[in-house]
This record gives sequence, structure tokens and C-alpha cells, in this order.
Amino acid sequence: MTVRLAIIGAGIMGGDHARLFAAEIPGVTLQTICDADAARARAVADKVGARHVASDPEAAIRDGNVDAVLIAAPDPFHAPLTLACIAAAKPVLCEKPLSQSTRECLAVMEAEERRGKRLVQIGFMRRFDPSYVEIKNLLASGALGKALMFHCFHRNVAPAYGVQDSMAICNSAPHEFDVARWMLGSDYTSISVFRPGGANAPQSAPVFMVLETAGGQLVDIEVNISAAYGYDVRGELVGEKGSAFLRAPVLADVNLGLKSYSVYPEDWRPRFVEAYRRQNLAWLKSLASGVPAGASAWDGYCATAVAEAGVAALRTGKTVAVEHVARPGFYA
Ligand SMILES: NC(=O)c1ccc[n+]([C@@H]2O[C@H](COP(=O)([O-])OP(=O)(O)OC[C@H]3O[C@@H](n4cnc5c(N)ncnc54)[C@H](O)[C@@H]3O)[C@@H](O)[C@H]2O)c1
Repeated sequence: MTVRLAIIGAGIMGGDHARLFAAEIPGVTLQTICDADAARARAVADKVGARHVASDPEAAIRDGNVDAVLIAAPDPFHAPLTLACIAAAKPVLCEKPLSQSTRECLAVMEAEERRGKRLVQIGFMRRFDPSYVEIKNLLASGALGKALMFHCFHRNVAPAYGVQDSMAICNSAPHEFDVARWMLGSDYTSISVFRPGGANAPQSAPVFMVLETAGGQLVDIEVNISAAYGYDVRGELVGEKGSAFLRAPVLADVNLGLKSYSVYPEDWRPRFVEAYRRQNLAWLKSLASGVPAGASAWDGYCATAVAEAGVAALRTGKTVAVEHVARPGFYA
């Protein structure tokens, strides 16, 4: 059996998912590549051999020849298009964040629960990254003792989606919000946000966040969307008996011209290629088995709740409590 997939959004991520599905993931037919920009949809479809192109995402989702949908359009379209997938009873892998608003996340959760079936997976692919998984397994084995802190940083070469002052918190940091919560197995209770003064471009200056969890752990996250030198994501989990650092895949250590160095990628795709592959494979397996995989709409909501509190903390300079609705039994 093959799953007929529609990809909505044929930009950097949609193009990369299409390439992965076409080249490396069996059991998928690329049925439709849909983009508001028809030429972009056509270019990706031609590259991966997709059957159809479209520019109306809602019609592409409703199409009877489409079994499942991957949403890689910009953030503001995630929740409305996920709702359209739920209305059409189609499973959906939606890129992160589910929304930049908890109100919209709650609407998705309510619609999914009304459908009575888990249809939504969120593209928090770091849960599938071998390095994060290794550390989570180490923690679960007890080797590191109790987890106390998680230090994270996330640096981009240049702003990918504009320079509104909240972008680092609403668009980039949800990866860390989700993966640290998943790693530590505990929800956040508060967030404080700091920003260095004196930057030439204050809107895109780094943000430094300190979060507390219900389990008493501390998480600190630097997000720098204008780091210039390369795409660089790191982390260290500190336990009572030891600590573990994430390792990015390094494919070559170069010795040249009296120097020794390795190379940074320009963006996230090479760093997380294995995570995207494993995430997409797990999603497909979950469609066949009916057992959900990865992050749910509830996890998407939790990340957005932290981001909303983070934006309030940035604006007020105060520590802000992270508020959640109670976890619905549907997401137990
Ligand atoms: N999981 C990750 O690691 C990761 C990494 C980067 C980006 N993202 C997320 O993926 C999404 C896409 O990011 P990108 O870098 O590919 O952006 P992009 O700008 O390269 O591509 C977005 C595409 O969507 C199209 N589009 C816009 N409105 C549309 C609509 N209503 N219907 C269909 N297509 C529409 C645009 O024409 C564009 O081609 C973003 O939400 C971003 O947050 C996730």
C-alpha cells in the first residue's frame, strides 16, 4: 500500500521533505505539490516526479486522491490548514510551530478530539535526532542521575523569516521548548527573557531565556537568529552524576594551511537530515499502525504556551508564569 501525499508549501522545507520522500522513504507517492506560487510548486514537482501541482491548499487537502498531508507553508497557515486536514479526516504532519497563538492550538486540539482520532503530528523532529535520543536514553538508564539542567543554544546565520523582535521566541525557540520538555519529562512553570544591550540590530539581537520546570529543573536557551558564522545548535544535559553534550554530525575534520577545522552548514537541513528522515518514516509507520508518533497537537500547544509567556517576559522584563489548560485525556 502506498500513501498518496500532498505537500503544502514548496519552499525550503517543503522542497526538502519532497526530496526526502522521493529519494529515501518507501511507501509514498508524491501526489500533489501545492504552493501559493505555482511556479515554485512546478519546480519542486518536476524535481521529485510528483503527479500534480496545485496552488489552492484547501482544495489539495480535500482532493479524494490525497491520503495524507504535510504542511510546510509559513507559520500563520499551519493551524488553519491543519483544521482543514482534520475536517477532511486526513492525517497531517504539520511543520512547527502548530501556531504562534495558543487560541489557535486549542481550536486544533478541540477539532481533533471532536473527530475522535489522532490525526496531527507536529514537526518537532529533534525528538528523532540521534544525538538527542542518545542523551534521553542515557538519562532513562539512570547513568547521569537525576536531570538538573539543560543548557541549549540555537544559532542561525541570518534571520530566515523577518526580524520582528519576537521571532526568535515564536519561530525558532519552540524547537528547544519542545525538545527540552520532552527530554526532562516536565512542563515549564516560568520563563524569563534577557537580551544583550548595544547590538547594532536590536530587533534580531540574541535572546537568552531561563525556564523553570514543574520538576524544579532549569533550562537556559540562547537563540541567536543573526549569528553570521554558521548554523549551530548545541546542548548539554547536566545530571547529578554526570553530563552529556549533543554532537552535531561532523563529516570531516580538515587539516589545511596550518589550520585544523570543521565546517558549519548554512542552515538546519544538513544538521538535522537524519532527524527529518526518521521523523517522516515514523509518521508513515504511524499511519499504517494507527499508533501516533512524535509530537502531538498537545505538545504543539505546550510549546506555543511557553512562547507566548516568553514574548510577555521579553516585553515586560519580568519573569512570567507559563499557564496551561489541563491536559485532555484524549492526549494522555
Ligand atoms: N522543522 C524544522 O526544522 C524547520 C526548519 C525551518 C522551517 N520550518 C518551518 O517550516 C515552515 C516553512 O519554512 P520554509 O523555510 O520552507 O519557508 P519558505 O518561505 O522557504 O517556504 C514557504 C512556502 O510556502 C508558500 N506559501 C505561502 N503561503 C502559502 C499557502 N497559503 N499555501 C501554500 N503555500 C504557501 C510560499 O510561496 C513558499 O514557497 C515554516 O513554518 C517554518 O517555521 C521548520
